[in-house]
Formats: sequence, C-alpha cells, structure tokens
Amino acid sequence: MRLIHSIAELRSAVGAGRAAFVPTMGNLHDGHLALVARARELAPQAPVVVSCFVNRLQFLPHEDFDQYPRTLQADCERLAAQGACDFVFAPSEAELYPEPQGFKIQPPKELADILEGQFRPGFFTGVCTVVAKLFQIVQPQLAVFGKKDYQQLMVIRRMVEQMAMPIAIHGLDTARSPQGLALSSRNAYLSEAHKVQALQLSAALKALIAEWQNGLRDRERMEGEAIDRLAAQGWQPDYLTLRCQHDLSPAREGQALVALGAARLGSTRLIDNIEA
Ligand code: PAJ
Repeated sequence: MRLIHSIAELRSAVGAGRAAFVPTMGNLHDGHLALVARARELAPQAPVVVSCFVNRLQFLPHEDFDQYPRTLQADCERLAAQGACDFVFAPSEAELYPEPQGFKIQPPKELADILEGQFRPGFFTGVCTVVAKLFQIVQPQLAVFGKKDYQQLMVIRRMVEQMAMPIAIHGLDTARSPQGLALSSRNAYLSEAHKVQALQLSAALKALIAEWQNGLRDRERMEGEAIDRLAAQGWQPDYLTLRCQHDLSPAREGQALVALGAARLGSTRLIDNIEA
C-alpha cells in the first residue's frame, strides 16, 4: 500500500478508468473499511484508492472543520492491516485547492436544499465539488459510498448521471455497533453516557416506520410527535421524517420508504436513516 500526497503522482500510479474508489474524510472506522472491502470485491484486479481529505468546502463557518479528527497515520495502519487498499490519497489543502475553488458543482435545489441541505446550506455544493474533483483526479471505474449518508449518495448518483461521468456508483448499508449505533467519526465527540443515549435516534426512526406499517398515515403529525419525543429526551432535533426512497419526497402509499433524521446531542450532530 502506498501513501500519495500529490495529484500528479496519483495520476501516474493509477491509470484512467481503472480504480475502485472510496472517498472519505479519514478517521476511518469499520463502516469505512466495509466500503473498502466492497471496492476490492467489486473489482478484484483493479487498484483500490481511498482518499482521506477533510473538505473545508462542505463545512459551514460554525461547524467542526478545525476540530474534525485527523488521524492519517492510524488510518493508513488500519488500511494496511485490512489489506484491501492499494493507494491512500491524502492531498494537502494547498494541493487540492491551490487557489480558492471558484468553480463549483451546484446540485439541483429539489435534492440539495431539503433535509441536510436545509440545515447545512451549501453542504452538497461542497460535497459535489470535492467529489467531482476527486473523480477527475482518480478517474475511477467505480466508487463506493455509504447509505449512512443517504441523501449524499442520492445526490452523487444524480450528479454522475447528469454530468455523464463514466463511473458506477455503489451504495453500501450502514455499519452499526452491536447495539445499533451507526458508526460515525463524530461518535468520537460523544461521552460514554451520550453513546448509549445516541441509540434513541435510530429507535425514533424505527418507531416512525412501525407507525406507518401499522397503518397510520398522518405523516406530519407523526413526524412532529417523533421530534417532540426526541426533544423531551434531551436532544435538539433538526428533522425526523418519512420519505420515499427513490427521490426523498414525502412518504406516499405504495412507495418504498426511508426514515431519515438528524439531531444534536449536546454539541454533537448525528444523522441516521432506516429503510422500511
Ligand atoms: P465521510 O464522512 O468520511 O464518509 C466517507 C464514506 O463513508 C461516505 O460514503 C459515508 O457514507 C461512508 N460511511 C460513513 N459512516 C458509515 C457507516 N456507519 N456505514 C457505512 N458507510 C459509512 O462522506 C464523506 O466523508 C464526505 O462527504 C466525502 C464524500 C468524502 C466528501 O468529502
């Protein structure tokens, strides 16, 4: 496994249209490693590239960009021990953004201004811009993303389709702790007590799905009550909502559904989703 910092070196090490690619912000956990294993499985002969880059463009000024855990050495050790990754691409900010990134990829409002995008304005522009740039550099044949970031996966799929990028996008189920907590780099911010309490978010999403499956259809009231219950348990919820899997529009009869939620526990913002 080779650690590469420069765009030119990555390009010459990995030919165009070959790599199986897993973009990350580093601080790798078992959820990330599952994506890497999947990339290897999907393309046994291809070079597997994992990028580790904390992308300033997708953080709002008050968010945790400075605090975000940067653990490149430990990340490389985990990847080497797993044995599925050939190249770790960890550019500096000066390498990836040598001048302010004025050209940006702006996703359509109906996808990007709802849910995460409503509470983190500009977030998906930052994500699409860095992912498109990484795609230009790595030129992969395929890329693997987690369903943990459900809306992000959908936005990336649509970007690749609409921009005719020749890259197959694969989504992988959310990796969870044995108790059911979705693995996340931001879990590192949680106290032990909050790690236990954090399970209440996925429980609230499961409850919403169960209500729908039991025949309740007053979606807005159900969502409001779910938000109130979580707030009463000490959270500050941004949204808890039942949506259609295919376009994230409000839940409708006869559609495959997903419950999505984001909420703060103390100062840590967690997101999760459960497919029905
Ligand atoms: P990051 O949060 O590091 O996540 C990298 C990839 O790992 C994403 O595809 C995410 O959905 C996936 N992932 C995170 N937790 C997971 C879990 N518990 N189970 C399965 N997959 C999981 O998402 C980003 O970085 C950035 O926005 C990025 C796409 C790299 C652009 O900067």
